[in-house]
Amino acid sequence: MNYRESVRNILIEKFETIPLANVLTFGCAQNENDSEKIRGMLYSLGYRMTDELEKSDIVVYNTCAIRENAELKIFGNIGKIKALKKQNPNMIVAVCGCMVMQQHIVDKIKKSYPFVDIVFGVNAAELLPELIYKCYSERKKQILAPEDRTEIIENSPVLRQSNVKASISIMYGCDNFCSYCIVPYVRGRERSRKPRDILNEFTELVNRGYKDITLLGQNVNSYGKGLEEKVDFADLLSMLCKVEGEYVIHYISSHPKDFSKKVIDVIRDNPQISRRIHLPIQSGNNRVLKEMNRKYTVEKYMEIVNYAREQIPDVTFSTDIIVGFPGETFEEYLDTENLCKQVRFTQIFNYIYSKRMGTKAAQMPDTVTHKEKSEWLNRLIKVQQQITFDYLNDCIGKEYRALVEEKHDKLYTCRLKNNFVVKLFCKDDILNQFVNVRITGKTGTSLTAELIKTER
Ligand code: 5AD
Ligand code: SF4
Repeated sequence: MNYRESVRNILIEKFETIPLANVLTFGCAQNENDSEKIRGMLYSLGYRMTDELEKSDIVVYNTCAIRENAELKIFGNIGKIKALKKQNPNMIVAVCGCMVMQQHIVDKIKKSYPFVDIVFGVNAAELLPELIYKCYSERKKQILAPEDRTEIIENSPVLRQSNVKASISIMYGCDNFCSYCIVPYVRGRERSRKPRDILNEFTELVNRGYKDITLLGQNVNSYGKGLEEKVDFADLLSMLCKVEGEYVIHYISSHPKDFSKKVIDVIRDNPQISRRIHLPIQSGNNRVLKEMNRKYTVEKYMEIVNYAREQIPDVTFSTDIIVGFPGETFEEYLDTENLCKQVRFTQIFNYIYSKRMGTKAAQMPDTVTHKEKSEWLNRLIKVQQQITFDYLNDCIGKEYRALVEEKHDKLYTCRLKNNFVVKLFCKDDILNQFVNVRITGKTGTSLTAELIKTER
């Protein structure tokens, strides 16, 4: 059965005007990327997009499971749709993504959120036509049980949010099983896309004028494992950098255990690659790292940082940190604080440990109170604020190349290749162009600049 065609016909029958879809994304860049595929599929069925819940004929919640507070927020949001659904009986409410890859969550939705019509996990956008069709024609809910869908679907429709910034998934899933993390359970085993498919997507984006492209994977440094072709992440980066054009390549996320000198050399030799390395350390204490099953030590981490700083003078580092891992003592937390002072990250994404059902860390005794953990987190935030402040001061007077990303009247927001944000005034239209800027000062966490020269 051609479900796409059938859904198009149903929508024409059911709606007097063009039906509208609203895809709400929670969580990481991978989820944003998945949402673009979901929007692409809905668009191909005849929906157009809206941001207004009141006007939506289908609402899709693309969910995140990484921490408990993400799940609580999502349930709060889903709860609010009930009243709107009463006003528009043709409205479909769908929930997908990482959160509904857990059976206990699917059970909770069935029990406490009976107005949810469709549940469909991750990597399943191409199932949407069938689910929508059955939902309307059989007048029955379509709740799929969590199922690991390992097949990589190429050439599915995509509706991108921007015409300058884009992301490309280079791999899916994760094999690392860090003891605190739910991702390997909800996103399945690691599998890489073929380099040729990635290169084609990348080339097409560059040719269409995209200038800021992010390569996505849970651990991009182990890209290539399991492919017939012998290729690693460094090879992939080199291959992409041969594509003609002016663009900047970012990549997230990296894992220190797999971050090779070869990758650093490729970054050094290719100015198109971002000068910011996001390298999650999680903790600055070797015992805690071992308990986290991270498979590297602080010393190994510092080796990468030092080698990168030798090879790439303008490199900056950002990181992820978890405070209050089960069993972590205040002294061990202080090791993390000291490591941050030593590395001088430009940015830290810090989280209080959140217990995830089914992970190894969920079994570990956890005696430190949430209040104490919050105090540690606040200390860390203060330490980092000073480091960022000093970094921004160091930038003043220097010249950089930047991509102009946003415009509000004559005030432009640009991003440097080390990921710093810069604001500048300009009478000309420079949106979405690369420009050279001189840093003149700072406001809060961003810099102010003046234009040196514009290129078209
Ligand atoms: N609790 C707190 N933070 C977590 N992260 C992953 N799992 C958890 C958890 N259970 C953080 C890690 C990871 C980032 C994406 O989210 O720091 O790098
Ligand atoms: Fe989670 Fe670790 Fe995999 Fe990252 S590498 S997704 S933290 S298990």
